[in-house]
Amino acid sequence: MHIEKLPRFPLAQLPTPIEKLPRLSRELGGPELLIKRDDQTGLALGGNKARKLEFLVGDALAQGADTLVTVGAAQSNHCRQTSAAAAKAGLQCELILNGAQPDLPSGNLLLNHLFGARQHWIDRSNRAEKLRELGDQLRAQGRKPYLITVGGSNGIGATGYVVAMIELMEQLRASGQGVDHILFGTSSGGTQAGIELGARITGFKGQLHGLSIDKSEPEHLEYETEVAQIAGECAAYIGSDVRLAKSDIKVVYGYMGEGYGMVGALEREAIGLMARCEGIVLDPVYAGRAFGALVDLIRKSTFKRGETVMFWHTGGAPALFAYAKELV
Ligand SMILES: Cc1ncc(COP(=O)(O)O)c(C=O)c1O
Repeated sequence: MHIEKLPRFPLAQLPTPIEKLPRLSRELGGPELLIKRDDQTGLALGGNKARKLEFLVGDALAQGADTLVTVGAAQSNHCRQTSAAAAKAGLQCELILNGAQPDLPSGNLLLNHLFGARQHWIDRSNRAEKLRELGDQLRAQGRKPYLITVGGSNGIGATGYVVAMIELMEQLRASGQGVDHILFGTSSGGTQAGIELGARITGFKGQLHGLSIDKSEPEHLEYETEVAQIAGECAAYIGSDVRLAKSDIKVVYGYMGEGYGMVGALEREAIGLMARCEGIVLDPVYAGRAFGALVDLIRKSTFKRGETVMFWHTGGAPALFAYAKELV
């Protein structure tokens, strides 16, 4: 492996802390609960994309790019952290956003604006096409765009989560803490690909559970195949021989509620529980839904009493402010 030799631009405050959630464990009558605070990665109010962007921006700079171009939903955390990363690295940023453009930007959209990103609004269906098109337009203008796929989920971005898993294993070793299960939200796959690959590389013995926040169970393990592919690209990028098959990737479905970005009882309860028991903020779209899934799994006795369960908080809190009406 040659992770230390890969281009990397420092963006995140690492290592992120691990905390115990004793009041929440008691409230739920469940297993011992821990939280890995990747909402505290620092960049532009934190979140998982800071880790991926360290390697993506490192690669962009190594290639002489002058502009980061990426895509996402209106309240995309990935777009917000990409705009901030571009500002910090002295690059321009162009965002392709889908959804309805509000009159007054709030949450992540307000932050994109403050970081100086240029926004292009489109229909979700032509995201990939628009990304290519915009790249061509910028090149024709003499710019050097670096295109980042949705969620920063490719082999380069996933490297950030291999590093995260190495970081976690060092923290657990130093504290003597054991962990039986790790659960996290999964959507475009880069976080899960990096965690799964990192777990294999470091010899993590517990179980990993990706909690799908935006898919009902797909046939033929399509999403698992995608995650395994990203993990394969990542292994090649970092020089590891480990290869994962789709059957190695565990994704839990059934928590999509009314759909992506729609707040229901599950998210409301989860956000309230975490806030009132532990003073920690979850977002409505990703971490709130994923933690709601974890609460449900505890209630269904998925974990044994003496087990330790870690929730990997992947951030997203700025979106809360765009969902105020659904949360009060
Ligand atoms: C806060 C948050 N958590 C989790 C995820 C899911 O990560 P991934 O897209 O790498 O699967 C995202 C993705 O956008 C996110 O913004």
